[in-house]
Amino acid sequence: MQRVSSNPVMEAIRNRRSIRKMRPDMIPTKEQVAALIDAATWAPNHHLTEPWRFIVIAGDERGRLGEALSSALAASFPDTAREKLDMERVKPLSAPVILVVIAAPKIGPKIMEREELIAAGAALQNVLLAAHALALSTMVRTGAHAYSEAMRSFFGLGDGESLVAMVYLGFGSESQPIGKRNGASVEWRGM
Ligand SMILES: Cc1cc2nc3c(=O)[nH]c(=O)nc-3n(C[C@H](O)[C@H](O)[C@H](O)COP(=O)(O)O)c2cc1C
Repeated sequence: MQRVSSNPVMEAIRNRRSIRKMRPDMIPTKEQVAALIDAATWAPNHHLTEPWRFIVIAGDERGRLGEALSSALAASFPDTAREKLDMERVKPLSAPVILVVIAAPKIGPKIMEREELIAAGAALQNVLLAAHALALSTMVRTGAHAYSEAMRSFFGLGDGESLVAMVYLGFGSESQPIGKRNGASVEWRGM
């Protein structure tokens, strides 16, 4: 049996890190972004409802996203300082591509919304791991204002749909940060 530590999937799970600083001169190709979306669709999902959809934001569209996020932040938290609103406006420009992951639960007698959201979260993780495998860097971004009505309208979310996260995509310009986890609480029963 292959040793756990030398298994490439186990290594990817452990070594994937959030990268904040991306190179402005290196842009993921459409083919690479499509490969991440394809990986997302292989997430497990009960009844094979495939409860997700995606928006890819690049180029000047990042500026529109920044305007929307900054306005949503100001509306959600009216006391936000001007500098923070300005930072929010330019944030999407820090990555060449932003992949928006949306949970799109299906409706049916046996379909549970909770399971649909869990599946969409698994799709997000597939995106992150696939990006890591393709030597792309990712940074997941949300914030309370990202879930606001204003942002729902910006993303064109329908009834029942919700934002999972915005994945900032690119090629990192910083060295890989050191990860840290505390270890899980586990109750071993019968093992
Ligand atoms: C649903 C979700 C939302 C997140 N939102 C943010 C965010 O708004 N800002 C941020 O700095 N990091 C955000 N993160 C990234 C986490 O901060 C990051 O994954 C965590 O610090 C662990 O670091 P690692 O990804 O390098 O293991 C988010 C992660 C997830 C899964």
